[in-house]
Amino acid sequence: MIGVRDLSVRFGPINALDSVGIDIRPGTIHALAGENGSGKSTLLKVLGGAQAPSAGTVVLDGQPVSFPDPARAAAAGVGLIFQELSLFPHLSGYSNIFIGHEPSRLGFLQFKQLNRQADKLVEEMGLPRPDLRLPVSELSVAEQQVVEILKCLCRQPKIILFDEPTASLTQREIKPVLSIMKRLRDQGYTVVFVSHYLEEVFEVADRITVLRDGKVTLDDDMAHIYREKILSAMLGRALDEFYPSRRAGPLAEPCLELENAHADGIEPLSLKVRKGEILGVAGAVGSGSRAFGEMLGGLRPMRGGAMRLEGRAAAFRNPARALQAGVAYVPEDRRVDALLLDLSIATNMSLPLVAAPKSRLVGAGGFLRLGQERMLVDEAVQHSNVKPSNPRLPARALSGGNQQKVVLGRWFLHDRPCLVLNNPTKGVDVGSKAEIYRQIADLADSGHTIILISNYNPELIGTADRIIAFREGRLVATFEKGEATEDALLATTMGGDGSASGAQEMP
Ligand SMILES: Nc1ncnc2c1ncn2[C@@H]1O[C@H](COP(=O)(O)OP(=O)(O)OP(=O)(O)O)[C@@H](O)[C@H]1O
Ligand SMILES: [Mg+2]
Repeated sequence: MIGVRDLSVRFGPINALDSVGIDIRPGTIHALAGENGSGKSTLLKVLGGAQAPSAGTVVLDGQPVSFPDPARAAAAGVGLIFQELSLFPHLSGYSNIFIGHEPSRLGFLQFKQLNRQADKLVEEMGLPRPDLRLPVSELSVAEQQVVEILKCLCRQPKIILFDEPTASLTQREIKPVLSIMKRLRDQGYTVVFVSHYLEEVFEVADRITVLRDGKVTLDDDMAHIYREKILSAMLGRALDEFYPSRRAGPLAEPCLELENAHADGIEPLSLKVRKGEILGVAGAVGSGSRAFGEMLGGLRPMRGGAMRLEGRAAAFRNPARALQAGVAYVPEDRRVDALLLDLSIATNMSLPLVAAPKSRLVGAGGFLRLGQERMLVDEAVQHSNVKPSNPRLPARALSGGNQQKVVLGRWFLHDRPCLVLNNPTKGVDVGSKAEIYRQIADLADSGHTIILISNYNPELIGTADRIIAFREGRLVATFEKGEATEDALLATTMGGDGSASGAQEMP
């Protein structure tokens, strides 16, 4: 059994955890839920030796223990998979998996054996197999997540702490991860996992703890739990409107027009997206849905065909050009692509605005209009509901979901006619998701065009005016408003009738 007693963690004035007591029973799956910044990651880090408590203790098998570092926790059988990927980008998948793990005297043969061990795990999980010989920087976020999971499991922990293991996976890839959690539990392992998806919690968890502002607000067996109970423990209120209603529909005028446009990974496609339209883009990892967004955003060069933005011919060589012309691309992985962690929230928010040509924040002579910047940023921080709401804090001090809000907030602040959003609600709590959907709808209502690429089909159905689906690099289906169902989307994005998923049940 592992647990904590009277645990508090303070960061300056912030009580990330406040006298928390939890028991995690062996051989169970224990879910941890709560709003962004409620203390979930901090709790897992304390259990996994990556964060020292300010007060209180960790208890393992009835004994108080202290883990000064993750290696010590691992030696005691506790493995932590971080929310933010912690891989070395230039090393191969294999090297990342075994780093710090392999004794230096390991010979070539033993390396081979370790590699085989990793291959076997991939096989068992039924996950898309990342090429573990490549530097992980060349892998997709989902594939990096797989490497991260393998890295933990290869150390054969007894207690496994997963911090949002499914946040960057598509629905098809989530199932195998949930299956492996169940299988680990059935083999007697203890699994603790953080998730913002209540469906997952209901599917696999035996017990749930909800945190709000660092305090436990619910701790009970899943048998006694229903959805509203979790939501009100998380939010302290009921959630009335999850998907927003629109005040205006799309306009007749096109914003973006594609004619036989193609790029590496996407076959020629023709498409008109109107002003004020929210176009949902569905597809599994590697289907072309992301490549499509990258082509629009100037990250992936067009290989042929034509693109027009507000009637003008456009083909962007890089994201800066795209931005200048009017397309803002918001990437999926905030850590790698989007945030400068040591700089303040304010700087992170205003950066693209300051860097933009003819910025309203830069005065004559190239000086930054500090007053203007502060005003805009303060407004954006309030508007995007970033907590803590002090724009001077370094981005590093924010929880994962709040970092995501900063990345999004900056583009809402940066008024461009077309926004390409890649999984904008990844890792964001349910309350904030609802707010982001509201922001997206408001932008569309004011005439912006939104391209919403998402792994999470329910949000596409709930927010988009039209949904296009990609498979194997091709646009394979278009669903007008009201036409798409979860089953139809899943079947279209996976091919066949959907039964051929990678999600094999574990023996
Ligand atoms: N290194 C740090 N320095 C200062 N404050 C921090 C630091 N790490 C976390 N915090 C603060 O502690 C609180 C809890 O953060 P934590 O990361 O545990 O939240 P979380 O529940 O995991 O949220 P999310 O769902 O967004 O991942 C937040 O207010 C956060 O800003
Ligand atoms: Mg977290």
